[in-house]
Amino acid sequence: MLDTVRATMPEFDLHIRNGSVIDGSGTLAFRADVAVRDGRIAAVGAIEGEAAREIDATGLTVAPGFIDVHAHDDDAVMSTSMDFKLMQGVTTDIVGNCGAGMAPRDPARPPMPGVNVVLGASHEGEWQTFGEYMDAVDRADLAVNVGCFIPHGAVRYFAIGMDRREPDEAELARMRDAVARGMAAGALGLSTGLIYPPGAFARTEEIIALAKVASEHGGLYMTHMRDEGERLLEAIEEAVRIAREAGLPLEISHHKAAGRENWGKTEQSIALIEKERGAGVDVTFDAYPYTAGSTILAVMARRPEAGPDSVFVSSVRDKPEYEGKTLAEIAERLGVPPDEAAQRVLEADPSAVAVFFMMDEADVRRVLAHPLCMIGSDGIPSPTGKPHPRLYGTFPRVLGTYVREERLFSLEEGVRKMTSLPARRMKLAERGELRKGLAADIVVFDPETIADRATYEEPRQYPAGIEYVIVNGEIAAEHGEQTVARAGRLLRRSSG
Ligand code: CU
Ligand code: ZN
Repeated sequence: MLDTVRATMPEFDLHIRNGSVIDGSGTLAFRADVAVRDGRIAAVGAIEGEAAREIDATGLTVAPGFIDVHAHDDDAVMSTSMDFKLMQGVTTDIVGNCGAGMAPRDPARPPMPGVNVVLGASHEGEWQTFGEYMDAVDRADLAVNVGCFIPHGAVRYFAIGMDRREPDEAELARMRDAVARGMAAGALGLSTGLIYPPGAFARTEEIIALAKVASEHGGLYMTHMRDEGERLLEAIEEAVRIAREAGLPLEISHHKAAGRENWGKTEQSIALIEKERGAGVDVTFDAYPYTAGSTILAVMARRPEAGPDSVFVSSVRDKPEYEGKTLAEIAERLGVPPDEAAQRVLEADPSAVAVFFMMDEADVRRVLAHPLCMIGSDGIPSPTGKPHPRLYGTFPRVLGTYVREERLFSLEEGVRKMTSLPARRMKLAERGELRKGLAADIVVFDPETIADRATYEEPRQYPAGIEYVIVNGEIAAEHGEQTVARAGRLLRRSSG
């Protein structure tokens, strides 16, 4: 429905004229103006009336701000300008993924190994409970909106440290309580990372017990599954069992088939997901548009899904000479076998991050194109080194490479995967669509030129074609430059 608004007084803060509006719902683009007042969308349609600021969007697409459902910016949202996401058109960032995060925290324990280096640690120690962490996010000058998942790995570390064993009754009660309190504070659900210690030490029953608590509060279960290669299908079965027994919806994070011998398996994995949906389990998934993944080197050193030629070391504390090199190159330089080279890198920095080429393009395309797939960058915001280019390029790459160049799906469908689909999934009732009354998170981009520019060699490059990014009604980026606006908010789970 188009609203016709007539006014003689300047009544809007912002008026975006003559754009091609893609409202996020998946319906076809239409020509309309969009007006903003007090941080909300005041009207969509043929709008007359003065505005404090006008944007001529002739030839441009006007869409809801993008939602990154899989981010690791738990610290970065508070300690950086978030330029790497904002410049992509991302207006909402979902943190606490892969079971990794910054709360709950027991001050009697040292920081959880690995996590702080990967996520950053600028605010370490200011909170203990997950609710206090969310309050700290809420108080920060946020460039983008932030939604939070309760990370199972952090909850387990809080209760039993790095011990490889089941929790006793008191410890499980402590974990359940941490999840319950985080959910009551407005977390969106529970996340796991079942390849990373200590989360990987958990049996299925433990996760079901905690997912039940998230379920009682209307939360979602997001999982980096126990296996993404050889035992991919078994891992999906475990995730589905957790969702079924705990009675909550399931999102499979960064769905993929890792390792050459598993290429093509997403055909079976998607068939399995569809079968389980048919049987009543509410499953969706997300993906990033690249054939390489990235995580801490230590994990893949234990279970290699990529050969030494296809592992690029991306960040190593105090050893920049290793960064941007393959393990094979480092091995040659040191005159040692590749395994030994990996060990040397890990001795220098046990939390070193690497990029792994481990997927097949056909699997990436099959996953991305599926109507249940939303977009999550999985970017790791390392301040140094050469991070995986998904940190800077994910969203424009989907719309440039996969929509415009490869025509894998329509522009409207691409936008839907980044907006209304995740907003509904995360229960963010005020986001994800351009509709009167909703929050004014808006991206104005050129569909003919939008493209990622970040590469593996030079990852820190902003994309092309993003003209304006508007967060809660304020212009946060304009023609490729970030403004001083810090209009983001902490988003707590809406009850409706
Ligand atoms: Cu992740
Ligand atoms: Zn993950």
